[in-house]
Amino acid sequence: MRYSSTSEAIINTSPKCICISVNSEGKAGELSDILSNDSAKELDSLLSELSFSGKPGETLFLPRSGTREFHILVAGIGDPQALKENDVLKIGPAIAAAIKSNKMKELSVALDHFGSISPLNLGRQIIDAIETSTYSFDTYKSEKSGEPTLTQVTFHCLENETAALDETIRLAHAVNTGRHYARTLGNEPGNVCTPFYLAQQAKQLGKDYPDIETNVLDEEELEKMGMGAFVSVSKGSTLPGKLITMEYYGTDKKSAPYVLVGKGITFDTGGISLKPGAQMDEMKFDMCGSASVMGVMKAIAELKPKLNVVGVIAAAENMPAGNASKPGDIVTTLSGQTVEILNTDAEGRLVLCDTLTYVERFKPAAVIDIATLTGACIVALGHCTSAVMGNDQTLVDQLLAAGQQSHDKAWQLPLWDDYQSQLDSPFADMQNIGGKGAGSITAGCFLSRFTKSYPWAHLDVAGTAWVSGGKEKGATGRPVPLLMQYLVNQLAS
Ligand code: BES
Ligand code: MN
Ligand code: ZN
Repeated sequence: MRYSSTSEAIINTSPKCICISVNSEGKAGELSDILSNDSAKELDSLLSELSFSGKPGETLFLPRSGTREFHILVAGIGDPQALKENDVLKIGPAIAAAIKSNKMKELSVALDHFGSISPLNLGRQIIDAIETSTYSFDTYKSEKSGEPTLTQVTFHCLENETAALDETIRLAHAVNTGRHYARTLGNEPGNVCTPFYLAQQAKQLGKDYPDIETNVLDEEELEKMGMGAFVSVSKGSTLPGKLITMEYYGTDKKSAPYVLVGKGITFDTGGISLKPGAQMDEMKFDMCGSASVMGVMKAIAELKPKLNVVGVIAAAENMPAGNASKPGDIVTTLSGQTVEILNTDAEGRLVLCDTLTYVERFKPAAVIDIATLTGACIVALGHCTSAVMGNDQTLVDQLLAAGQQSHDKAWQLPLWDDYQSQLDSPFADMQNIGGKGAGSITAGCFLSRFTKSYPWAHLDVAGTAWVSGGKEKGATGRPVPLLMQYLVNQLAS
């Protein structure tokens, strides 16, 4: 999809389809200069005849007619002074759906000024919605969904707004590219998307984007290094585990990087603590944290910001086997701390803890890990909101703000010391599960013991990384938008 901005009057650009916003009083903004001719009257009468209320999420498609050689898509934006966030979020998807069902090839959008909705915000919403509505995963379908009909979107704005709009378009393009990539990696089945496959994909990113340098450590090297917790998970699978790093330097190499660590369990059977059969297929999505890290790296390589960013992926398959870990096994982590594995299904924290120790070598400005870590997170926050915890309130606050800004929201859970004792083990320095209650927090507590030397936050995306069951089942690409917003915000600070 091509997106561009211009301050040229729409009517002078021989448009095919014009999208204008109309408020709850039926008024369009001044950029909708087509309304200065006969179509204004036509539109007025049609809007009242068809009782178009102008509510956000409502659209009206007026096909070409008479001397008017272009289609008009009217999008309601309600009362711009009284709009709530969720109302604003209805506008883009409604436009995208109307464009799709009317098979428009080109769209000219009048980005008018309406109260609290800025042209930049509205433009961003429309791009995100179009990109989301045109995503499909049909690799394994004999019948393909085909290319989207729409190929060109031109935003019309005031002359002094084009530069900022171009920046918005660039950012939106990068974020959506990364998000699509993360979705596709997540949707790949477990027999294709293995630790080896993730490593190959990361190497391919390094080839496609010279700014990214990829390195892969094999299971043998992890074992030699002393990553006893990581290897205790990967050893039960015939597929060897991989530790994948992707480094992007957009500024002075000496400037501390932002490090993203992704849980990359390419299939989670639970191991010897085997999961029940129902919906176990969805445990192919247990690498969505790492998919979001790869998505961010791709987005960063597209955007080329002046930041240093390192993506690290802990890739392994969690299987039951003769040589798999058993409940009660004790392993030594890279940090030297020992862990009693009481439940082999709490494997994410085991691969992550060693990886979190490993990333100390990057002397990070901040480390954020992203993991589909606990079912308890879904109990606490459902599927709308990711959980965030950390050892640095400034970092947590920045992530919460980035979530709000990008409409990829997160909410903080308390990582208080009070919960730490739930991890006490009679035999080792700690056990890998916290028992009854606060399952997401005790998982966070476990990770916190390996992240003492840098500002750190943990995103539990168990409820948000994919849509479970139903027609919409599939990876969402979250939290790529949140992470990209966080990183871009660092440029300003
Ligand atoms: N990958 C799962 C968490 C999960 C479950 C995410 C369902 C999304 C949907 C994780 O590895 C896991 O199995 N966690 C256990 C931890 C427990 C054994 C302490 C869980 O949540 O049940
Ligand atoms: Mn598990
Ligand atoms: Zn898991």
